[in-house]
Amino acid sequence: MNEYNVLDIISKKRDGKILSKEEIRFFMEGVSSENIPDYQISALLMAVYINGMTDDELFEFTMAMTESGEKLDLSGIKGFKADKHSTGGVGDKTTLVVAPIVAACGVKVAKMSGRGLGHTGGTVDKLEAIPGMRTSPETDNFIDIVNRVGMCVIGQTGRLAPADKKLYAIRDVTATVSSIPLIASSIMSKKIAAGSDSILLDVKVGSGAFMKDVQTAELLAEKMICIGNRAGIKTAAVLSDMNEPLGYKIGNSLEVEEAISTLKCEGPEDLTNLALYLASNMLYMSQVGTIEECGDKAAQALGSGAALEVFRNFIDAQGGDTAVIEHPEIFPIAKFALDVFASESGYIEKTDTEKIGNVSVELGAGRLRKEDKIDISAGIVLTKKTGDFVESGERIATLYTNDEHKLISAEKLFMDALSFSDNKPEKKNIIIKTIGLFE
Ligand code: URA
Repeated sequence: MNEYNVLDIISKKRDGKILSKEEIRFFMEGVSSENIPDYQISALLMAVYINGMTDDELFEFTMAMTESGEKLDLSGIKGFKADKHSTGGVGDKTTLVVAPIVAACGVKVAKMSGRGLGHTGGTVDKLEAIPGMRTSPETDNFIDIVNRVGMCVIGQTGRLAPADKKLYAIRDVTATVSSIPLIASSIMSKKIAAGSDSILLDVKVGSGAFMKDVQTAELLAEKMICIGNRAGIKTAAVLSDMNEPLGYKIGNSLEVEEAISTLKCEGPEDLTNLALYLASNMLYMSQVGTIEECGDKAAQALGSGAALEVFRNFIDAQGGDTAVIEHPEIFPIAKFALDVFASESGYIEKTDTEKIGNVSVELGAGRLRKEDKIDISAGIVLTKKTGDFVESGERIATLYTNDEHKLISAEKLFMDALSFSDNKPEKKNIIIKTIGLFE
């Protein structure tokens, strides 16, 4: 590998030329072995940020990241293994509803999930709000739970795509996070290493998402689909709306409560519709039937209580207290609560969802840096959402925290996130489009 020179690789990309597979492998090897210093890694990342990558470069870059660590061997799991991935949103507890529905229909879900960072939450933090829940079982135990229960969700180990961890830390401090090829390769390197047979990407679009507009979200989805399919994993994407929080509850234990209500068929309409749509498409990708049959099966699994039973068994298998299903009051309650009231009458016209995510971080439910501790009982319960009419003085939300000093700043930030109008805004469909399945 000594015939390559990192300086030449950086200048080639700086000048908009195409890197060869060997040059990309040489670079990633240097990242993993720490032979390339951070300042040269930063320079290459900035060159990619500015000049992009061809599909071939992107594939090689992703595979080199995947191969920088171990690949999970899921061959011990009987049957088709379907995975999903959300690009991150506010109030997004979809996995907790989708995975039990899919598993109740006989398709295995062996899922590695992430933690929350910034305004977006993470499934592992939410699961850990359940007393006793273990999210880092050994691989044998993980496989055994998937075979017995149909699903298991665990935290991502540092052994998966370690080069991504290094690159992400540098991107974070060099203004190179928001690059489509860098996001696509970062997500897909970990998904490929996680070993499932299919991946359905839930690409969030809107004020609470990484991707603020449909066009950019579509481009990201297409790049990820291209990488996944080329790596031999059936990959498709659903673009879903994130211009308001999903459901009414934001925060870790609050979101588990809302997911449980949804599994009892008492959940909010947007979450229920999105979960059923994603589950139907995951079943379709697993060749369970036509898309209509898969839709019927998913609805039946939810309506009959079969998905709730899978969720109960899953909590039990991972050491969690299943009593939370019947008695959500078991969840610790935050010491301080503040009702927020509308300052004027009118329709809630827009919700700046990233700001709402930041309110939940301010209250303690999320983290700004990876090492920050979170407060599982902190969060927000919305009473009104975009499109609802409110009278001046009417309650629109309640904020929960264990740090009383945070309430005033959080309330101000919350009010700044909303805008009011005399005209009722058009209701948006939660599903924007599906890419890579039916065309
Ligand atoms: N999630 C990831 O894993 N990587 C990114 O670059 C962005 C979101």
